[in-house]
Amino acid sequence: MSQFSAPKKTKGNVMCTSFARSLPDPWVLAGSKLTATTSITSTPLGLWTFLDEPRAIFSSLPPHFPRNKAATSYAGSMADPKVAYTDDDGKSGISALSEQSSVVDERLLRTVEGRKFNTLTETYFLPADEDEWSRLNKQHMAIGLGLQGLFPNGDIVRAILQTKDGEGKSILDLGCGTGVWSLEMAKAYPRARVVGIDLAPVPIDPETKPPNCTFEIDNINNGLTHFDKQFDVINARLIGFGLQNFRKSMVDVARCLKPGGIVIWLDGDYDLYWGYPPKYMPPYSEAYPEGSGLQRIFYETRRAATAKGSDIFGMSLALDEGLWQQSDILDPATCQTASLLLPMGEWMKSDDINEAQLLGFVGKLMRQDIMAAHKGAQPVLLKAGWPQTVLDEWSSKADDEITNGKVSIRMRLAWGRRRGDSGQPAPALEPIPVDDSERPQVKYPHYEIYQTKEQSLAAVEKRKAGKNITPPPFPPSP
Ligand SMILES: C[S@@+](CC[C@H](N)C(=O)[O-])C[C@H]1O[C@@H](n2cnc3c(N)ncnc32)[C@H](O)[C@@H]1O
Repeated sequence: MSQFSAPKKTKGNVMCTSFARSLPDPWVLAGSKLTATTSITSTPLGLWTFLDEPRAIFSSLPPHFPRNKAATSYAGSMADPKVAYTDDDGKSGISALSEQSSVVDERLLRTVEGRKFNTLTETYFLPADEDEWSRLNKQHMAIGLGLQGLFPNGDIVRAILQTKDGEGKSILDLGCGTGVWSLEMAKAYPRARVVGIDLAPVPIDPETKPPNCTFEIDNINNGLTHFDKQFDVINARLIGFGLQNFRKSMVDVARCLKPGGIVIWLDGDYDLYWGYPPKYMPPYSEAYPEGSGLQRIFYETRRAATAKGSDIFGMSLALDEGLWQQSDILDPATCQTASLLLPMGEWMKSDDINEAQLLGFVGKLMRQDIMAAHKGAQPVLLKAGWPQTVLDEWSSKADDEITNGKVSIRMRLAWGRRRGDSGQPAPALEPIPVDDSERPQVKYPHYEIYQTKEQSLAAVEKRKAGKNITPPPFPPSP
């Protein structure tokens, strides 16, 4: 029988039980986020029709999942009032605000071209509003399906967090966005301390937030010395656009680990790929009229980010080179990198019906994610000098490519564990016996792990084909 049989109806909700069973801890432990309200009907494949209705996803989420409204309030706590609300000054070294009560969240957001943005830095310029949260939560699901859980190396993370319910353990989620990853970890490990930090307030309901989870307003660029040696697990997912010196942040983050703790980086390879095997396609321009509109938007977004101080181009090689380079802090024997290829839309095929359904599910989520993402970049591209008419042209090409083409985005991953005290290798972990029937029954087919830096860089070389292009022209001067 298919992994993805039709959702089983229960009073008041619908749960795709066989699908939920195919997810590993802590997704299942976290109370199965894959629940839906009765208004959602199943497709012939047993997938939910809400996938084609961007906003409906919010009404389908369990209570702890981020909602439409930013309900959390923040107030000064760890902050020195002189440095709270200052940006990128390189001197704060503390969280600007900690979640408490009484300060209106709107102070932390500003509106540009009808979208909301953080007020701490211009370097990170993707929005922080309902449309963005909806997008991020879909992306979270797609990545989770690809990785088959909340992290790429479940056995290691579980072994590190192995105490009753995570007692005495601490988890840090950097640039936590909607807070979805933090919340799922807090539910899975109810005695662990989970801290999510971000430039913008997290849209959660304080009433339903797990008590072991807190959120802080903080700018990673200002340093993380206040978190030195505090965490067992650190998640640094998709924050590259907001970092001004990626390699420095890599070091700052590694220092936040306790001996033996693990850091997991995940970020996009914003060179998009086409077809399978994946091939780079140049950005659309007069020189490449057959090029991709979506690739052009991604390219210009990176350019605009760089102009605002982001090290987004520097991130690419830093992550593909992996964390072996941090051998003074991290144990190289525990470092690996990986590639996760995610299709946009349902074009990626497999002879295995279960795999095909998994790919289709991921593709639907990613199609909606990227359609929203490229629109979210418009305010900054307008500010960079691109006329609306040009953006509309790229945008309509991009929508057509995502809907009818064979586009995919690669997620690059890198992880490693901190050395033991006095530079010893990372302490050995006690393996946790896992019942194989608990493991996901369908393997995501486009996930590759590289065991060494050489393997990782050899894969970079292979992906280089076709990338040697003349960069497209800059925007017209005003
Ligand atoms: C693309 S979202 C990813 C959110 C989340 N990590 C996830 O994977 O769903 C990037 C998030 O990182 C945050 N961010 C970017 N740069 C940051 C910085 N310098 N300090 C703190 N947060 C940052 C942004 O505000 C945004 O919420």
